[in-house]
Amino acid sequence: MTDKLIIFDTTLRDGEQSPGASMTREEKLRIARQLERLRVDVIEAGFAASSNGDFEAVKSIADAIRESTVCSLARANDRDISRAAEALKGAARSRIHTFIATSALHMEKKLRMTPDQVHEQARLAVRFARNLCDDVEFSPEDGYRSDLDFLCRVLETVIAEGARTVNIPDTVGYAVPELYGEFIRTLRERVPNSDKAVWSVHCHNDLGMAVANSLAGVKLGGARQIECTINGLGERAGNCSLEEVVMAVRTRRDYFGLALGIDTTQIVPASRMVSQTTGFVVQPNKAVVGANAFAHASGIHQDGVLKARDTYEIMRAEDVGWAANKIVLGKLSGRNAFKQRLQELGVDLDSESEVNAAFARFKDLADRKSEIFDEDIIALVSDESVTPEQEHYRLLALSQRSETGERPHATVSFAAGAQEHRAESDGNGPVDASLKAIESKVQSGAEMMLYSVNAITSGSTESQGEVTVRLQHGGRVVNGVGADPDIVVASAKAYLSALNKLHSKAERVAAQG
Ligand code: KIV
Ligand code: ZN
Repeated sequence: MTDKLIIFDTTLRDGEQSPGASMTREEKLRIARQLERLRVDVIEAGFAASSNGDFEAVKSIADAIRESTVCSLARANDRDISRAAEALKGAARSRIHTFIATSALHMEKKLRMTPDQVHEQARLAVRFARNLCDDVEFSPEDGYRSDLDFLCRVLETVIAEGARTVNIPDTVGYAVPELYGEFIRTLRERVPNSDKAVWSVHCHNDLGMAVANSLAGVKLGGARQIECTINGLGERAGNCSLEEVVMAVRTRRDYFGLALGIDTTQIVPASRMVSQTTGFVVQPNKAVVGANAFAHASGIHQDGVLKARDTYEIMRAEDVGWAANKIVLGKLSGRNAFKQRLQELGVDLDSESEVNAAFARFKDLADRKSEIFDEDIIALVSDESVTPEQEHYRLLALSQRSETGERPHATVSFAAGAQEHRAESDGNGPVDASLKAIESKVQSGAEMMLYSVNAITSGSTESQGEVTVRLQHGGRVVNGVGADPDIVVASAKAYLSALNKLHSKAERVAAQG
């Protein structure tokens, strides 16, 4: 087993393009540290030229990460590529990933360029990027729907210009496994200098085949890099899911015969961190990371697993990090124990005053909840990593009354910048009343697209409720997440967190893929 499969994680770039999944610099940095613990080979940290916020996020990640290669996306033009190089300056290992669309549809309707112009722009972009960075990746966007001869011409040129990796996106999730695998194999056979580059697959999940297509690209096509995201996060139906491809290649190494550098015990912690940060809940029956992925409900299965585990289990729960769900701290734990646990979880709070504030919140939570799990700590520091500029609205107090047969009523006090507001409202339930009270003062006019409540840790009603609220306003979609043992309070926190995101006017240029 000599061949290595490169795992290129794009949770922080393509995953973040999912409406409502946008993350702050601090959140991205925390996830990047977890991806490094997971030992992914490449972290696509963002799209540096898309906004100042993304530039800063890529820069912070490049400065902090030492083991994984840090990559930035860039359109095929000098400005984007220079911004990417600038953001990546501090990286131990860096990569510029430049792209331009090559399908007839995209070239004609979106770019309004001729094939010759696209070919030339791809050539110049890779040449320019190679002057700034040794490790350059090129993607022909909508590659799978591109004309084969034209695509071969473009790929031969970019490899000759020094692209070390060529990535073939199925941008719209149109491929089926056998055809996609053959497509990659044909490209590799027809491009004369194909052996000078690593071939990569990048599949979207519109028809639910992103993982199958990626694996076919590897097995049938000979690709040696898979681009994927934690929990399959991404635009529309998402990207190829990291946990699924990694565990498929590892569990079926008899078939794939490939080596991986991944520490699989970090998969579940990474999945939880991404889900808690973005508010994109993991479905219980999701492979590998869903709450039921290793639960055996039927008597026959339980009996079988107790007698011999491999009767019904092909992977061990602890190998993907499920065992990590342990009670870590309680009411009597001190500041040092708390600080050490933060370090073990890879959370770096910038100053002692942030640690003190997080510890005060921890004590407050421990007074109300006897067992504190890792997930509780992550939820707690998620609040702490919000900077004062990002936290325009802040919950101060909430009281609500609900009685059988009576219409619920809530009173909410919250800060908006330097001002304090107190608002009251009735509602269909205490949550509805609380959010209506807030909205009566803020008057955001936002439309609520999603409201969901989950128990952060399963098994008991003592768990904190984690609420996700998705709001839409003025063409923007944002997610807010709030956690508290009281779900009405968690709901108000989530609503205010979404309003904070709408309040920050950060303009972003969307990557087209
Ligand atoms: O899906 C896509 O085409 C992309 C490219 C920008 C790589 O994400
Ligand atoms: Zn994509």
